[in-house]
Amino acid sequence: MSEPAAFDRRWIAHRGGGRAAPENTLAAFRAGYAAGFRAFECDVTLSRDGVPFLLHDTTLTRTTGVRGAAATQRWDDLRDLDAGAWFGARFRGEPLASLDTVLAFAAARRAWLNLELKPARGAAARTGVVVATRVARWLCEQPRAPAPLLSSFSPRALRAARAVLAQRQARLQLALLCAHYDARVLRSARALGASALHLHWRAVTPARARAIHAAGLALRVYTVNRMPTTTRLWAWGVEGVFTDRLDLPARGNA
Ligand code: G3P
Ligand code: MG
Repeated sequence: MSEPAAFDRRWIAHRGGGRAAPENTLAAFRAGYAAGFRAFECDVTLSRDGVPFLLHDTTLTRTTGVRGAAATQRWDDLRDLDAGAWFGARFRGEPLASLDTVLAFAAARRAWLNLELKPARGAAARTGVVVATRVARWLCEQPRAPAPLLSSFSPRALRAARAVLAQRQARLQLALLCAHYDARVLRSARALGASALHLHWRAVTPARARAIHAAGLALRVYTVNRMPTTTRLWAWGVEGVFTDRLDLPARGNA
């Protein structure tokens, strides 16, 4: 069977594999890759002992069935949790993914990663430092790998990441995530040295897209699951969309 055509980096698989597999697991990345995606967004947080791993929520309840805040658990206790069964029997036993396993996945396939920093309360700076340090080191070991992009809703996490990247002269870029748009957002992105703004699709208008581009920032939009919205966004010149629909790029090309 021939492989599907690979999509360009404008199409970003949200949480690794959108709705096709349990979010933020390696199974999700495999599903995204098999569908033709070569760009992946995922959420990164820290265990109590500082191991970066993938999780969207602050608690483990929804995706592992285990009660409690993720940040209070050690990685040794997290690594064996089942993060697949909630999604379907086929994924039973799928573990939580460490950042290291995702970096290895990306290196082997030359995939592009957008690592969204999802710090626990009070852990923004630490999360920024740990993830930026790990990714900068990985990039030295993998000079041919596409440099990941670090994004966050937390300016504090981005500032901490930025300090690490500057110190190490790492070729990683930053993006500020925002659910809403106003002029402060542009100022904040600039002050952080971000190269892009990642906005909720409802917050994007043609005038705002123009203002963002005029400020020298790229614009990516989450989470876009309808083709008419995507078509509009392309017309407004956005640089990328995060989608849960792995079938969407093929529909657009049809
Ligand atoms: O990074 C884009 C998007 O993932 C932000 O929202 O809540 O799905 O992480 P959320
Ligand atoms: Mg995310």
